[in-house]
Amino acid sequence: KVISKGQHGSYMEKEIFEQVDLLKRISLNNHAEKYSTLNFKTLNKITIIACGTSYYAASVAKFWFEKYANILVEIDIASEYRYRSPIIIDNELTLFVSQSGETADTLAALRYAKSKNSQTLALVNVANSTIAREAKFTFEIYAGPEIGVASTKAFTCQLAVFYNLAIEAAKQRAFIERDEVKQLEVNFMQLPQIIEKVLQRCNEMKVVAKKLSDYSNILFIGRGALTAIAQEGALKLKEISYIHAEAYAAGELKHGPIALLDKQMPVVVLAPKNSLTDKLLSNIQEVQARNAPLFIIGDSSIRDYINIQEDEFFEVAEIPESILPIVSVVPMQLLALYSAQILGKNIDQPRNLAKSVTVE
Ligand code: G6P
Repeated sequence: KVISKGQHGSYMEKEIFEQVDLLKRISLNNHAEKYSTLNFKTLNKITIIACGTSYYAASVAKFWFEKYANILVEIDIASEYRYRSPIIIDNELTLFVSQSGETADTLAALRYAKSKNSQTLALVNVANSTIAREAKFTFEIYAGPEIGVASTKAFTCQLAVFYNLAIEAAKQRAFIERDEVKQLEVNFMQLPQIIEKVLQRCNEMKVVAKKLSDYSNILFIGRGALTAIAQEGALKLKEISYIHAEAYAAGELKHGPIALLDKQMPVVVLAPKNSLTDKLLSNIQEVQARNAPLFIIGDSSIRDYINIQEDEFFEVAEIPESILPIVSVVPMQLLALYSAQILGKNIDQPRNLAKSVTVE
């Protein structure tokens, strides 16, 4: 079946804009019953293994499982996991995330975990894929076919499933109060509406992208779960615009990357209103003191402290902290898309990249 791009210029653009409907469907679809077949109570550890964008979904999931369910979570890149000597403990769940379900390194890591008798769970988008068939448990992420090589909607759907798994784990382990669990559910239901609003302001991101696409190197920084979103933003940008981009946990700036800062090295800061805002403000001041161009994706209250132009700022309204990673990735996707468009690159088929890497 041929999938149409509709009114969009690329599949990637279409897939970014599809995220609202996908999240609506996930909200309505009640998978709680299926997720409750997993026993989180007796788990001692979860190890999450993936590659590329799926790995950044795992990084965010670690925050949720730890914070809401008090489960020890380790994450690893599949190509590393398979060649080290990972220690699998009693009652450990090894969880594999793969959009395609065919990534060679992730599959090899799954086979390794199985050979060590670990319980295995796969989160996949392609239901009849090899990883889906070989894992003991498989949950689909229901993103629908993703054509653009740079993953967007699959990432959001992976996060959505992880969020709901973390809620299930939180319930079973009774680590947080029932009211807090309820609040996590309420927050999740707000996602389609919030993301729709972000997408409605996509033209504002075009203006930011116009300015940023003049540079050859860009640094992304964030804190907490948004560090992974900064990493995903840098990955998206380099994949399709070929602008060199790197991401750091904001607190690491002073341990190296700060040496790079000058007028030619813009810094994109993910600065939402959350418990880490104050910490981030001091990182922003470090950037400004070195005359590096500053771009902020975050809450408008930050502008009370920082002098920044309209075309250097993209607002993400104040929203509950638990859903911030899911919302914050959308401006990152738009930034990559528009930068690549402005530079005239092939959005859906970037050079040297494959949708699914089935060889080592
Ligand atoms: C390739 C794709 C990426 C993807 C990665 C992992 O590199 O270009 O978009 O994130 O593989 O793929 P998977 O299908 O395992 O999620």
